[in-house]
Amino acid sequence: MNPFSFVVQRSPDVVFSFIFFFLFSSIPPSFGYDPLDPFGNITIKWDLLQSDSGSNFVKVSILNFQKYRHIEQPGWRLGWDWTGKEAIWSMQGAEATEQGNCSRFKGGQLPHCCEKTPSIIDLLPGTPYNMQTANCCKGGVLSSMIQDPSMYGSIFQMSVSASDKADFNMPENFTFGVQGYTCGPAVEVAPSKYSTDGGRRWTQALGTWNVTCMYSQFLASTTPKCCVSLSAFYNSTIVPCPMCSCSCQGLPGAKCLNYGETPSLLQEIKDTNGEPPSLVRCSEHMCPIWIHWHVKQSYTQYWRVKITVHNLNIVKNYSEWNLVALHPNLKNVEQVFSFNYEPLNPYKFINDTGMFWGVKFYNDVLLQEGDSGNVQSEILLHKDPEMFTFKAGWGFPRRILFNGDECVMPPPDQYPRLPNIAQHDAQFSIILFIFSLFLLICCV
Ligand SMILES: *[C@@H]1O[C@H](CO)[C@@H](O)[C@H](O)[C@H]1NC(C)=O
Ligand SMILES: *[C@@H]1O[C@H](CO)[C@@H](O)[C@H](O)[C@H]1NC(C)=O
Ligand SMILES: *[C@@H]1O[C@H](CO)[C@@H](O)[C@H](O)[C@H]1NC(C)=O
Ligand SMILES: *[C@@H]1O[C@H](CO)[C@@H](O)[C@H](O)[C@H]1NC(C)=O
Ligand SMILES: *[C@@H]1O[C@H](CO)[C@@H](O)[C@H](O)[C@H]1NC(C)=O
Ligand SMILES: *[C@@H]1O[C@H](CO)[C@@H](O)[C@H](O)[C@H]1NC(C)=O
Ligand SMILES: *[C@@H]1O[C@H](CO)[C@@H](O)[C@H](O)[C@H]1NC(C)=O
Repeated sequence: MNPFSFVVQRSPDVVFSFIFFFLFSSIPPSFGYDPLDPFGNITIKWDLLQSDSGSNFVKVSILNFQKYRHIEQPGWRLGWDWTGKEAIWSMQGAEATEQGNCSRFKGGQLPHCCEKTPSIIDLLPGTPYNMQTANCCKGGVLSSMIQDPSMYGSIFQMSVSASDKADFNMPENFTFGVQGYTCGPAVEVAPSKYSTDGGRRWTQALGTWNVTCMYSQFLASTTPKCCVSLSAFYNSTIVPCPMCSCSCQGLPGAKCLNYGETPSLLQEIKDTNGEPPSLVRCSEHMCPIWIHWHVKQSYTQYWRVKITVHNLNIVKNYSEWNLVALHPNLKNVEQVFSFNYEPLNPYKFINDTGMFWGVKFYNDVLLQEGDSGNVQSEILLHKDPEMFTFKAGWGFPRRILFNGDECVMPPPDQYPRLPNIAQHDAQFSIILFIFSLFLLICCV
């Protein structure tokens, strides 16, 4: 079958509806609400397990209820304000970064932390067993719920001396310590229940409070971190990432290295607490992550897309990376090669979003810029006769997110276009057929 039999005249209304759809579907998530993951949040749960003459034993669980956003190194750094003169006497599974001024406590042993606003970090993997708790010690890293359901939580325990009053008071003003997250107030919820004998008998916490933290890309960074380029077998134009998608060469703070240059030692020095500085390979878009979507082939019933993710960051390996794509045909995914895939259906009736991530020990780490600094996959999609077309850029994604952050797409009027044949001239079709055969042979 001639793969170009779908060529029909481009009518202006198709183009308009496409642009309209693009505008609507590309509205970036604002202030915490993410239409692709409407219930996504990080919940910090406080369970008061024991309370006895001014000493309270608390278990804190941090759970990442986000489908595709993870917390990467350097990890979470939890903070709060005690309402009184509480002090943390001991802690397992995490630690306070500062002990603070404990001079008001006389005598032998001093508390673990006397700060009014403690700052708590996770322990590193490999911590001595007696300092661990179940589910701790991941260096603050939390996986997304879909990617690794066994790694999305972190738990630590502490004993806290009560302030003046005998009761336990929940602290206020929680912070999560990762850019882009803001936390709400603690809300008392139904107490957590525990069973040690497989559910025959249950004990419960004396009190349970939830704090919910939400992400906003806008708060995290006003500049994007990735961009998308497009191409298709039916057009030799490669539409590059828009210029200055993430930054512009020559702007203050925009550091990049040309090919052949090696980073100097000074540039490689990392801040042990902050995020590693971004140092990218020079490009017109200056993004650390560049994603290419290629419409590779068309068969009678299927079509094939190739996705390549390039890391142009010279100082960073992206471990447990993920990519979220929006395309109406993702509801008919037939096969995904060399990536894991899971459809995301935030609303039961639309099924146009999916999440891709690397295969463990194969391509789950996107290595720093260089020959092996990319991962790729091919997707085979079933043509849905109700909507499938190559017209008006339909074959290209509506949105792409890398590690939960929106990537910059080229403007829709620049998408690779089908060769413009208005006249259904037999001769022309033959030329096209030969041309497409040639393309199929050369580009497979
Ligand atoms: C946080 O996420 C959990 C799990 O999806 C959900 O049950 C809970 O309602 C969410 N909380 C808020 C405040 O959205
Ligand atoms: C409180 O957090 C726990 C998880 O830590 C969750 O299962 C529960 O649904 C939350 N409760 C409310 C009311 O959000
Ligand atoms: C929480 O923050 C507010 C505003 O910064 C401040 O007024 C309040 O005192 C803080 N709460 C505590 C317990 O320190
Ligand atoms: C430590 O706290 C005590 C009161 O608890 C105060 O008198 C002292 O000045 C503080 N020291 C410093 C260095 O802030
Ligand atoms: C990235 O991973 C490679 C291979 O594991 C390692 O050699 C390299 O040092 C890592 N780079 C960074 C910046 O961590
Ligand atoms: C969405 O598509 C996936 C396959 O891509 C399928 O397994 C799933 O059942 C679909 N869900 C709905 C609600 O149509
Ligand atoms: C390929 O797409 C570009 C960009 O939309 C367009 O300008 C060009 O005319 C197309 N090429 C052909 C052969 O149609």
